[in-house]
Amino acid sequence: MERVFLIGFMGSGKSTVGHTLEQLFAMDFVDTDHYIEKKEKRKISDIFAKEGEPFFRELETEALRCVNSAIISTGGGIIERKENIEIMKERGMIVFLSAPFEEIARRLQNDRDRPLWKQDDGARAALFERRKPLYTEAADLIIDTEGKTGEQIAKIIYDYLNKE
Ligand code: S3P
Repeated sequence: MERVFLIGFMGSGKSTVGHTLEQLFAMDFVDTDHYIEKKEKRKISDIFAKEGEPFFRELETEALRCVNSAIISTGGGIIERKENIEIMKERGMIVFLSAPFEEIARRLQNDRDRPLWKQDDGARAALFERRKPLYTEAADLIIDTEGKTGEQIAKIIYDYLNKE
């Protein structure tokens, strides 16, 4: 079965869906942010604060090359580098979990951890708008997640993989 990279904006449910695929279908799952935090032995927010975003992006690209699980969830900024999209395409298929900005803002309303969510509403919305076409263009499969549970989304992915 082909390896799957889950992409999408912060709060679009990538790691939840990855965990669900792991639980329901016993698929091996890893999250690149989690992989980086384990390797670096510190939080993403610490890496951003001490080394800055470009350093984090280096770690992210390295992680994409190293992880071997069947299901890989990625950070929302993975599409910021063309190279990352090429790596994902070479190593598997890309599934974009698409959610409306309002839904994401609702989910992340109490989030204090994500460095790029710590901006005013206008800057958050601008980041979302700028990235949306990048996710869409990179994706082999786009799932509109609005109104769907994690289980329903996981099932769509599982069925898609088994159809191929
Ligand atoms: C980021 C998203 C985060 C994390 C980092 C940067 C981004 O991951 O990789 O804070 O640039 O959108 P999630 O998408 O899992 O929140």
